[in-house]
Amino acid sequence: MLASGIMDEDAGSIQRMIDCGAGAIVTKSIGTQPRDGYPNPTIIELDYGIINAMGLPNPGIELYGEEIKKLRATKVPIIGSIYAADADEFVSLAIKMQQYGVSALELNVSCPHAKHYGLEIGCDPSFLHEIVTSLKQQISIPVFVKVSPNIMNLTEIVQAIEKAGADAIVAINTVKAMKIDLQTTRPFLSNKIGGYSGKAIKPIGVRCVYEIAQAVDIPIIGVGGITTGEDAIEYFMAGASAVQIGSAVYYRGPEVFASVCDEIKSWMKNNGYTKITELIGVALQ
Ligand code: DHB
Repeated sequence: MLASGIMDEDAGSIQRMIDCGAGAIVTKSIGTQPRDGYPNPTIIELDYGIINAMGLPNPGIELYGEEIKKLRATKVPIIGSIYAADADEFVSLAIKMQQYGVSALELNVSCPHAKHYGLEIGCDPSFLHEIVTSLKQQISIPVFVKVSPNIMNLTEIVQAIEKAGADAIVAINTVKAMKIDLQTTRPFLSNKIGGYSGKAIKPIGVRCVYEIAQAVDIPIIGVGGITTGEDAIEYFMAGASAVQIGSAVYYRGPEVFASVCDEIKSWMKNNGYTKITELIGVALQ
């Protein structure tokens, strides 16, 4: 799948990812109102990854609905990523996403720096339980919850999410990080703190998926630093049954979806596996 926040700001860029072989698309995280995001600089590439603090820029649910509706003909599932400050706001966004025809929802409760959103919710098990319970009562499409690596109570969090009836856990969102500009002597990003993604965070994601797989029975979607087929296989072995790719679209181009699938197939062939299910969670045995 295409991970949220990369090449998913409108129907045109999403269609390109579909044409290049993405098996599902997660939309940009959308809120109730249009939001400008933070001033530049919002992104910096480092040796082993990328730090960004965009500030959840998005056109708001009404305008983004027009983009989703343009994709109605596609057979590739669209997963609507939403962020909100409370359960009622999540429900109203979810109802609209469902009306637009998305196949599932991904709750962004793990943005590492947006005030009132993201992590402030994502580290509170009872708040998360309330949000997921309300959503499951009022919508019929599956609910996925994207969790953060920046928390100490991951097991408690995913168990609260599962207990509330969520259909899958998505792990992980970006890792809180900072880059200081030596010339100006100040943090490089306008928001100072950002989220680290790309190759460097794969071991963190694999560790989180492994811990989550021991704590819950619902499916896990792995994301974080997956750049090659072998990276995806590592996530499968840790317990993920599907994976998302974000920063690697920047490193390898949109062709990354087809390339990663080919690399998974050839690794499996060379190592005597015939089905992905033979790999899922084998590291835990
Ligand atoms: C942003 C949101 C995220 O969830 C994340 O991991 C990184 C950045 C943002 O919009 O700033």
